[in-house]
Amino acid sequence: MPVRALWWESGKLAYIDQRLLPGRLRVVRTARVRDVAQAIRTLAVRGAPTIGVAAAFGMVLAKAEGGRSPDAAARLLASTRPTARDLFVGIEAVRRAWAAGEDALAAAEAYRERIVEECHAIGISGAPVFRGKPRVLTHCNAGALATVEWGTALAPLRVAKQRGGEPFVWVDETRPLLQGSRLTAWELGQEHIRHAVIADGAAGHFMKAGEVDSVIVGADRIARNGDFANKVGTYEKAVLANENHLPFYVAAPWSTFDISRPTGDSIPVEERDEEEVLELAGTRLAPRRSRARNPAFDVTPARYVTGFVTPEGILPPATLAKVLRGHRRPAMRG
Ligand code: MRU
Repeated sequence: MPVRALWWESGKLAYIDQRLLPGRLRVVRTARVRDVAQAIRTLAVRGAPTIGVAAAFGMVLAKAEGGRSPDAAARLLASTRPTARDLFVGIEAVRRAWAAGEDALAAAEAYRERIVEECHAIGISGAPVFRGKPRVLTHCNAGALATVEWGTALAPLRVAKQRGGEPFVWVDETRPLLQGSRLTAWELGQEHIRHAVIADGAAGHFMKAGEVDSVIVGADRIARNGDFANKVGTYEKAVLANENHLPFYVAAPWSTFDISRPTGDSIPVEERDEEEVLELAGTRLAPRRSRARNPAFDVTPARYVTGFVTPEGILPPATLAKVLRGHRRPAMRG
């Protein structure tokens, strides 16, 4: 059974608590919107498309609980994390239906289905690039856990494997919360895709040694000109790929593209608790008096992107603005 990050079950949202993986596969079930907001805030549920779908179902729970207007429920969920565009698209998909007196659950289910279908389509768009035995580097987790099913960056590799290819994946461990070594490595293991976890600082070494053929990552928000936000450390991987003449791909569904941002300069970058950097798995490693900074994302300029792997094919950054005009979707400002 392939991994699924969350699903709807008898009036509740069921989700995998991603903080506990790979050691423990715990499914949490909740009927409270506050729990959904907290799960998103604490990264129990994470990855741009997944938090959009979780928030869509959170809106359904808020309606069933009563006591909140559609706008108040939307504000609660929107306050959890600022960077991923998908969060705001997912919330708006259900807020509109609820405010119009339509079936909120049907709207959330339709949103989930759309995301899953788009991620599968990303896999089909991108698979031809990864034919044979490519050695591909990825950062963070852009697999099924981050997108409900299939993944964005991992979807083309999954489809390539189904077609008989033998991809090998270099998995950046992705400090400080280790989404690469904990989650991507776990997902690849489930799918029997060959991989090796490397320290974040090792990517340049393997690129320079000729052991990496290409890079593919997901995104949390993509501006009209192709600048994009993704997990902190992505920017330096893009610069390194450019230095080593390697193709660099960014895979995302339409909910991640933000036509209202002309460039990446206006993408809000979440800064998280400094303890995430100062500690490792709850153990303080840095000196007691040391302080830290903890941006969860960075913004990579479009000039480093070879192509955006979308549900409708691979788009070079220069064509993005034109294509996006055909994909205007309602989203709350966020
Ligand atoms: O802080 P996280 O774990 O939610 O960050 C996730 C990422 O940066 C992913 O790479 C991004 O959401 C793309 S997921 C398909």
